[in-house]
Amino acid sequence: MNKTEADKMGVPMGWMGGNGLQNIGTIVQDFKGNSFNVLEIGSFVGRSTKQWFPKTRKDDVGLPTVTCVDMFDYKMIPQKGRTNLEALGYTVNWDKADMLEDFYENLRDYEDNVRAIKGKFPYEVTLNPRWRFDVVFIDTNRSLENMRATLKAVRPHCVPYSTLICGPHYDSEYAPELVTAVNEFVNQHRISMRSWESPGFWGFKLNNL
Ligand SMILES: C[S@@+](CC[C@H](N)C(=O)[O-])C[C@H]1O[C@@H](n2cnc3c(N)ncnc32)[C@H](O)[C@@H]1O
Repeated sequence: MNKTEADKMGVPMGWMGGNGLQNIGTIVQDFKGNSFNVLEIGSFVGRSTKQWFPKTRKDDVGLPTVTCVDMFDYKMIPQKGRTNLEALGYTVNWDKADMLEDFYENLRDYEDNVRAIKGKFPYEVTLNPRWRFDVVFIDTNRSLENMRATLKAVRPHCVPYSTLICGPHYDSEYAPELVTAVNEFVNQHRISMRSWESPGFWGFKLNNL
């Protein structure tokens, strides 16, 4: 999806293309209009976050609750990410704009169902140990260390055989360290990956190991 198409559909700016956004739509359909709990790590200004919600709000449809963890700081976005976003036609004042303010503005229709937690996960953020999620969506720093630490930290918040842990960029050329970390985790826990229609999306459910 290019900038113009995204803007027309009220989708906040971001890097994620149409396939990635559609994958979230596929997951949402699994809940058949019932409410569900999402942990999203790496929300930026809410492009993926908004996909968890219906396009038009109807009060009779169960809304999800989405807990969004991000550093919420434009200054922390690496140069490559800035350049790529600008190439898509977006303009950002990287030193001055307030990411959390932009995030809340983009999610204003659903503010009661969004909880934003600012910090570097898992190093600066501790989730309430009682929280459990139906979906954990990871779209954060793709380094081996960060992905390993993230997968380890979300595990206690997942329900075996039920919680879907997933994310984009399962691509050994584009994000080799993410692929290594996901494969390691899957092998260690002897889990099968869910297959997706669009390439690069990864997802699995935990067992009891
Ligand atoms: C690719 S962007 C996420 C895009 C977003 N899902 C969307 O659809 O627009 C990655 C985000 O992860 C955040 N991030 C990177 N490392 C992080 C970490 N360790 N903890 C929390 N957020 C992190 C960045 O601030 C950035 O907003």
